Amino acid sequence: MNDVANDVMIEAHGLTKSYGKPGSGVRVLDGVGLRVARGGIHALLGPNGAGKTTTVRILATLTTADSGTARVAGYDVVADRRRVRRAISLTGQFAAVDETLTGEENLRMMARLSGLTRTRARARAEELLARFDLADAARRQARTYSGGMRRRLDLAAGLVGSPEPGVFFLDEPTTGLDPRSRRQLWQVVRDLAGRGATVLLTTQYLEEADQLADRITVLDKGVRAAEGTPEELKSRVSGHRLDLVLSSRETYLRLAGRAVHHSPETLTLGLPTDGTAAHVRALLDETDPHRTDVDRFSLHSATLDDVFLALTTEKTEAPTHV
Ligand SMILES: Nc1ncnc2c1ncn2[C@@H]1O[C@H](COP(=O)(O)OP(=O)(O)OP(=O)(O)O)[C@@H](O)[C@H]1O
Ligand SMILES: [Mg+2]
Repeated sequence: MNDVANDVMIEAHGLTKSYGKPGSGVRVLDGVGLRVARGGIHALLGPNGAGKTTTVRILATLTTADSGTARVAGYDVVADRRRVRRAISLTGQFAAVDETLTGEENLRMMARLSGLTRTRARARAEELLARFDLADAARRQARTYSGGMRRRLDLAAGLVGSPEPGVFFLDEPTTGLDPRSRRQLWQVVRDLAGRGATVLLTTQYLEEADQLADRITVLDKGVRAAEGTPEELKSRVSGHRLDLVLSSRETYLRLAGRAVHHSPETLTLGLPTDGTAAHVRALLDETDPHRTDVDRFSLHSATLDDVFLALTTEKTEAPTHV
């Protein structure tokens, strides 16, 4: 329980997990650690197969790690599994949303199942429908809901029990949503955290991690590649990038080795810079002394895309050939 006293709601150390036969299995987590404070929104960011879902499933007690330890809401995920389950909500868990029932009926039913009286279940459903902007659709069957409405109903379903869970695991909560629905869902997640809930979400969207998370763990091939605030991660790459559109393949090859961004199709290279006029001017003079090799240029602030590419394995594939 000490963790909770310290306000660490999710804590994992050295998680490993392999699938397949011992000896010939595939290791999908290789010593992952994690720490999320109460009220935090933490993103697990990584490419397909990085181990994001596996990590969430271990923390949510749906599977066990081969080694390592984890505590959620102060409880050990193995020894205190039942208590952990009561303290968390996991999206996807409520694939139990019944498509043929209305949103309202779904929530009332779940509230009843979690032990509320009829009257309280009705009130709780109404409150959640309003909070998740589903009041207008409350009396429609869930199968008529759009993707975004469906995700909100899933989240609401995770909240019907009383008291509300303190820790939310959201595995790719906005995959497949249009930009507007995604923004709406982000707001829902921010509201949850604003009420003191702790959120661990997985995402492949760099923008999502940047917008929503106060801390990010970059996972790559089962290993923690980096951890920090979005700003910290961005500053690791370099503050800014000068993109040069080069006039020839020869120039591209000459400069490719020092670039942090490569686009051979368009003969574009991005060079790190601090973004000051003096440095940009010096870079242009140095890379193109005769003023014939650079056709155009543009200046970019580093994005999480740059971080992601620099930190995950794709970087070894940075093309130096055209
Ligand atoms: N039950 C299983 N049996 C065998 N291999 C598995 C199993 N579950 C996951 N894996 C493998 O473990 C690796 C990590 O999977 P995981 O689902 O954790 O990745 P992820 O980061 O969530 O990826 P995605 O972005 O595609 O959702 C993958 O190579 C996957 O094929
Ligand atoms: Mg996954």
